[in-house]
Amino acid sequence: MQIPIYNPKPQYEALRGELEQAATGLLASGAYVLGPHVEAFEDAVAEHLGCRHAIGVNSGTDALLIALAAAGVGPGDEVVTSPFTFYASAEVISLLGATPRFADIDPDTFNVTAETLEAACSGRTKALLPVHIFGQGPDMAAVNDLARRRGLHVVEDTAQAFGARQGERRLGALGDLGAHSFYPTKNLGGFGDGGMITTDDDGLAAQCRLLRLHGQERRDHHTRIGHNSRLDALQAALLHVKLPHVDGWNDRRKAIAALYDRRLADVPGLATPHVAPHGDHVYHQYTVRIADGRRDAVRDALQAAGIGCMVYYAVPLHHQPAYRHLQACCPAAERACQEVLSLPMWPYMGEERVERVAEAVRQALAAG
Ligand SMILES: Cc1ncc(COP(=O)(O)O)c(C=O)c1O
Repeated sequence: MQIPIYNPKPQYEALRGELEQAATGLLASGAYVLGPHVEAFEDAVAEHLGCRHAIGVNSGTDALLIALAAAGVGPGDEVVTSPFTFYASAEVISLLGATPRFADIDPDTFNVTAETLEAACSGRTKALLPVHIFGQGPDMAAVNDLARRRGLHVVEDTAQAFGARQGERRLGALGDLGAHSFYPTKNLGGFGDGGMITTDDDGLAAQCRLLRLHGQERRDHHTRIGHNSRLDALQAALLHVKLPHVDGWNDRRKAIAALYDRRLADVPGLATPHVAPHGDHVYHQYTVRIADGRRDAVRDALQAAGIGCMVYYAVPLHHQPAYRHLQACCPAAERACQEVLSLPMWPYMGEERVERVAEAVRQALAAG
C-alpha cells in the first residue's frame, strides 16, 4: 500500500454531486471573473472567520503582497517575518521594494514569538508578518501588543492554518490583515490557485479591493499601481461548497494527529508536535523532529517503503541565495531545518494508514 503525503481526492469524492452542480451552474451563469459567486464566497468566508471583509485574490502569495501594499509597505521599509516558512512569505516583502528581517522561531512550535519579532525590529520596521506554520499561530495577543507599542501593522500569513482558533477568534482575523491560500493541499483547498485577504478595517479592505483590480477605484479612475489578481469565479463556487466542511476536516486532522502522537510517544530520538496553550492546531502538516542527524535516513526509509514524507523546510530563508546578504542569525530555524520531517496527513487518511506510517518510523529509527 502506497501512502501519499496528501490526497485531495477523497474530499472531492465526498462532495462530488454538490461540486459538479456548482461547477455546471457557474459555467452556465456566464459570470467567470468576480461577480456573484465570488461575492457570495467572500461573504461566507468573512462570516466563517468572524471579520468584516474578505477579498478574493488569485493566490495566497498575492493575498500577502496586496495586504502588505494596502498596509503601506514600500521601498525603504522593513517587515519582520519568519525564516522557517515557504519562500513567498519573504518574497512579497522584497517585491514591494522593502526588506525582510528574520525573527528566529520557538523550537517547540516552529513559530516566531513576540520576543523574537521585537528583537528583529528597527526604526524602519513597518509591519510584522507572523506565519502560522503547519497549522498553529504564535500568541497573537502578544504580537498585537508589540505592534501597538511600536505602531506597526500586523499581516498574518494564514496560508497553513485556515480555521484555527485562538480564544474566541480565528487566525487571520486577529491582526490588521489576514492572508489565506486555497492551494489544493491547504486545509481549505481549491481546484487550482486561489487566495483571500481578511480584515475588519474598512479602509484597508477598500485598498485591497482596488489593488486586486489594477488600482481601479471606480471605472476609468486608477489611483494606484495595482494588479490583475482576482479569485476565479469557478474556484469561488467550488470552495463555497467545501467551506462548511472545513471545521469537520480540521477535526479529522486533529484526530489523526492524536493517534500519531500516541503511536510515536515513546520513540527515542523523536519529538511529536507541540501544541501551544494559546490556541488551536489544525495540522496542515504533522511535523516531527528527529535528532542526532538521523532525519534523512528516516525519510529515505519511509520513501523506500512507499510512504510519502517531506522536509518542510530544508533551507531557512536567510540561507537562501536571494537573502544570504542580509546576514541574519536564526539558530533555532537552522536546527529545525536539519531535524523536521512532515508525515502523511489528510482528513480521510484513516487509522490503518496512520498505524502503518508510525510503525515504519519506529522501525526506521530502531534500525539505527
Ligand atoms: C506559509 C505560506 N505562505 C504563503 C504561501 C503562498 O500561497 P500560494 O501558493 O497560494 O500562493 C504558502 C503556500 O504555498 C505558504 O505555505
